[in-house]
Amino acid sequence: MERLDKFLCDCGAGTRSQVKMILKSGRVTVDGKPEKDGSRKLDPGKNKVCLDGEPLGAVGTVVVLMNKPAGYVTATEDKTEKTVMELLPPEYQHVDLKPVGRLDKATEGLLLFTNDGDLLHRLISPKKQVQKVYYARHEGTAGEEDVQAFAQGMILRDGTRCLPAVLQPMGAGESLVTVYEGKYHQVRRMMAARGMHVTYLERRQEGALTLGTLPRGQVRQLTQEEIGLISES
Ligand code: URA
Repeated sequence: MERLDKFLCDCGAGTRSQVKMILKSGRVTVDGKPEKDGSRKLDPGKNKVCLDGEPLGAVGTVVVLMNKPAGYVTATEDKTEKTVMELLPPEYQHVDLKPVGRLDKATEGLLLFTNDGDLLHRLISPKKQVQKVYYARHEGTAGEEDVQAFAQGMILRDGTRCLPAVLQPMGAGESLVTVYEGKYHQVRRMMAARGMHVTYLERRQEGALTLGTLPRGQVRQLTQEEIGLISES
């Protein structure tokens, strides 16, 4: 149960003082009845709240793109670590967002969230082979033999077989890595198998989506057009 005024703020109806005015002017109904008392308790899963007759908190498919900073685990909850959920702004509190795949605690960059279970499963399905591009800083320098090994499909130290991937050396200790699957610690393990320990990793692209100018730690909501692109591709 939560207060009506807090619910209205979290849904983006306005600031605390704006919400006070909105309530006073009788623009809010709960289960069809006008409600002016902001302290009234409600269950957002059960009670239907409308502003000017429009339902609040009822959402269709939402996809959010985050520029994840290091230091957060990709999980919906964790007993000891900070999670990526803590970086979602309050307006997403009533949207049941889940991370699409995962980035390691130390990895930065592009991470998607969605409330659409079907879309989530399609995006992480190995069948989809969505391209993911990573920038890596690492020990040593990648050479032609490493590029070939990535292109052939590597076998990791524990016997895991990887799909063919693209390694683009960028000079001493820097490379771009493109993979088409999402195995546990995949890029770090592929680089380690070639003797190049990764010291920094950032995901820069997933399918057609890039980080653009989104600052680290910030999120932006995808447009319907962008959702269409990632759903079809
Ligand atoms: N590969 C990794 O090793 N770590 C990530 O976070 C993502 C891909």
